[in-house]
Amino acid sequence: MTPIGSALSLTPFNFILISMSQIAELTLDGKKYEFPIIEGSEQEKAIDISKLRDQTGYITIDSGYKNTGATKSAITFLDGEEGILNYRGYSIEDLAEKSSFLEVAYLLIYGELPTEKQFAEFEHEIRTHTLVNEDMRKIFEGFPVNAHPMGVLSSLVSAMSAFYPDANGQNSEEATQLHIIRLLAKLPTIATWSYKKSQGHPVNYPQNDLDYCSNFLNMMFSLPVAKYNVDPVVSAALNKLLILHADHEQNCSTSTVRLVGSSHANIFSSISSGISALWGPLHGGANQEVIEMLEAIKADGGDTQKYINMAKDKSSGFRLFGFGHRVYKNFDPRARIIKKAADDVLNKLGINDPVLEIAQKLEKAALEDEYFVQRKLYPNVDFYSGIIYRALGIPTNMFTVMFAIGRLPGWIAQWKEMRENKEPIGRPRQIYTGAPKRDFVLMSERK
Ligand code: SDX
Repeated sequence: MTPIGSALSLTPFNFILISMSQIAELTLDGKKYEFPIIEGSEQEKAIDISKLRDQTGYITIDSGYKNTGATKSAITFLDGEEGILNYRGYSIEDLAEKSSFLEVAYLLIYGELPTEKQFAEFEHEIRTHTLVNEDMRKIFEGFPVNAHPMGVLSSLVSAMSAFYPDANGQNSEEATQLHIIRLLAKLPTIATWSYKKSQGHPVNYPQNDLDYCSNFLNMMFSLPVAKYNVDPVVSAALNKLLILHADHEQNCSTSTVRLVGSSHANIFSSISSGISALWGPLHGGANQEVIEMLEAIKADGGDTQKYINMAKDKSSGFRLFGFGHRVYKNFDPRARIIKKAADDVLNKLGINDPVLEIAQKLEKAALEDEYFVQRKLYPNVDFYSGIIYRALGIPTNMFTVMFAIGRLPGWIAQWKEMRENKEPIGRPRQIYTGAPKRDFVLMSERK
């Protein structure tokens, strides 16, 4: 952060940040321009350039938006330098320890922790909307058995807009609230279908007498031939993991949800686009890549240094999945909590997973290696989460689906905030680098 009162000057134009007077002065082609500086509730500062092009004819360019804020939001605050993550002002450490996933979902979406009455109503609404239209199952049956669960999930969530067509156009607050409940209630049900099909097992129906996490586990693992008892250790671990994934301000998939929603596309289509963005291996898909990477290292004799060296060698095309982050240049606070939970869950379940040892060895080696230290590459949320999911019996190709179930309240909260704030349709500019204007040449005359 630029200390208050200092000046920051850049070429080719002289860019003076005079934060004392809460304006930024820009000198371009000998002309001075002033732009307001805005300050957030956690003292983050931004230069408001919304009038830049009108006043100067210039735009800014910032590949990957590393320095560009897309919006002002009251939902989540994170400080990448200090490793801080708060949802609506509550620390992730407190929430992971003391709250439940549904309570955190309520907090993110409606802005406050619910009273007992509010929570009871919210939970009752969700429990009574978990059933999915049987015609959705017919769409699902058309997928091949080896379809990746993220592709199935994104498709079926988008299909929800066909079953609830009133989600299109301008929605009343009540209608939007019902769609929010439908998404929270039905996503876990839909998510389990892919796993059951992959096992050749019949899908399970939700049980309204079970809490959110237990219901998901029951739909995943119960069989018609034997009663399935939800292990409270497993349910508690899942609850904590979902809380830790619930929101993360303007990450790739959330920015996608906001951008799609800014065109006034319906909430189901907007959330479906977020699921697709999350699937990418550089984003939520990393949790599946991490386990596959750790398994490969184990199969290769456990030589973690070999993989560290590969990750440092750009020509290898290999990255250490679960390491590095666009924003955290310190430990990802979620990774710290998940790492402790991984130890805890495996001990409680009496599981000795050799991959955990490899992960710990890899982490230690990376954190002592200059390449990683210099680039501030620390374990992120995806590095240890797969080890817990695996201990809970969840198959690797469902890991990113678990991330989506956790992130759903965050996507909903951000979509709702964007629409309530009546934000304009998102439409970034560009700098054109293609061919200058030229005349059309008939094909017969082309060489
Ligand atoms: C999530 O944004 C969010 O909030 C996302 C998320 C959320 O909750 O929504 O936190 C969830 O997506 C976590 C990230 C999961 N992805 C991975 O684990 C994939 C592996 N990590 C990376 O590919 C990478 O670190 C990113 C994509 C996460 C961040 O990329 P950046 O910020 O664009 O960093 P970069 O690619 O510019 O890398 C900077 C340097 C480069 O080296 P140099 O060019 O400076 O020499 O660090 C290197 C990179 O080559 N680097 C890595 C590395 N990550 C970055 N080198 C080896 N292994 C890695 N994992």
